[in-house]
Amino acid sequence: MKNSDSKKTLGLKLREAPLATPTDLKAAATKDISGAMNAILADVFALYLKTKNFHWHMSGQHFRDYHLLLDEHASQIFGITDAIAERVRKVGGTTIRSVGHVARLQRIVDNDEEFVGPTEMLRELHGDNKAFVESLRAAHVIASKANDYATTSLIEIWIDEAERRAWFLFEATR
Ligand SMILES: [Fe+2]
Repeated sequence: MKNSDSKKTLGLKLREAPLATPTDLKAAATKDISGAMNAILADVFALYLKTKNFHWHMSGQHFRDYHLLLDEHASQIFGITDAIAERVRKVGGTTIRSVGHVARLQRIVDNDEEFVGPTEMLRELHGDNKAFVESLRAAHVIASKANDYATTSLIEIWIDEAERRAWFLFEATR
């Protein structure tokens, strides 16, 4: 193929799929991994905002401890967002574009209550972090099937972090 021909082909490809990152993964694997990881990313944003919400609206005698604990957790949660989105781009998918997109994909449920007691807050976040671990395990199975080691190794770290958050939240409520 002449150079000008290959340039033309590339131009055509870019117009047809302008955000398709080249990857050796099969199209089905890209779709499955992107689907799983975008749902994870939506959950991460939902969990981040709920953790901040509870950090901002904390009350009671353990205010300082709980307020600071939830801020630590929120920073850790927010800290993984970029890596998740960029994994999706690296494997050839596209990722979350808006808060509305998050709302369509999130499985962690928002809490817009006017008042939530301190213990209830910690219990709810404990449940959410545990559910998040389950979703991460499910995403690990999908990435594993495609031999997507970079995604599985990141997920393993995120499971450990979420289990640590769940542990602290559990101990603080008993
Ligand atoms: Fe704060």
